[in-house]
Amino acid sequence: MTRGKLRQIFDLLVKSSRGAPSREEQQATDNAPRGQTPEHVALIMDGNGRWATRRHLPRSAGHRAGVEALRRIVEIAPIEHVKMLTVYAFSTENWGRPADEVNGLMDLFWDAFRTYLERLDHEGVRIRHFGRLDQLRPDVREGIQNAVERTRQNDHFQLNVCLNYGSRGEITDAVREIVALGIAPEDITEATISQHLYSRDVPDPDLVIRTAGEMRLSNFLLWQSAYSEYYATPTLFPDFDHEEFVRALTAYGQRQRRFGKVVQEPPPIPAAIDADQSTPVPTC
Ligand code: FPP
Repeated sequence: MTRGKLRQIFDLLVKSSRGAPSREEQQATDNAPRGQTPEHVALIMDGNGRWATRRHLPRSAGHRAGVEALRRIVEIAPIEHVKMLTVYAFSTENWGRPADEVNGLMDLFWDAFRTYLERLDHEGVRIRHFGRLDQLRPDVREGIQNAVERTRQNDHFQLNVCLNYGSRGEITDAVREIVALGIAPEDITEATISQHLYSRDVPDPDLVIRTAGEMRLSNFLLWQSAYSEYYATPTLFPDFDHEEFVRALTAYGQRQRRFGKVVQEPPPIPAAIDADQSTPVPTC
């Protein structure tokens, strides 16, 4: 690859950090070398409702299509060398949706755990749950507990399902646990808090992907994603496929993670004068 091409990709990636990528930005990302792969990807699966509405279907059809999209991503992720996926299935704020949508989602979760557990277990997928179990419908709660228990020893891939999850609630629960244990204030470190979150023993996500074009975290992994890279795509979740996933991984591979530190920038590319056209051209 020429330096000119690299510069073009660099410029487009800088621009894309301001929002969802344009078509040109996306093309440059597609042509870029893949770079480093994130081990832990977190996914805000947004846009099921819009996907259904655009097709004159009930919102429940969008959520069903979302389950299918998630099934595909769980299959693809280990092939793409991702080791762990954390998905936002139902937030503590989602209880505020109409009762029939909430009930439909609970039916869908119960059904998905029942339908896919055997296969996920067979494929060595470990399932963990992040969230408050006690407020969930008993059948959904049992479905999750059963999936977590049955897959506890698996280590091929890990799927963390955030269901009845809210990051502020998670931090509140951690603080309650720490206080209940009587840990002295001077002994509380950032590691103490991490160890009392639902995500204890799980590395922070390297990359957070949000579908459907929104630019917010919506109470998702606020503590854990302090230094995660963020990627937003306008694609609605049911349409988020292998190609889209690889596009997000490629964009991540082009990022320079600094964790608040200074990283030496490469020297500027010297330009030479093109005698015929009198325009500066990068020297390769
Ligand atoms: C947000 O889209 C999506 C949800 C609240 C549900 C996501 C759940 C799944 C994809 C199923 C996952 C299944 C398991 C078993 C983990 P939205 O409805 O808010 O979309 P909109 O913004 O277009 O209305």
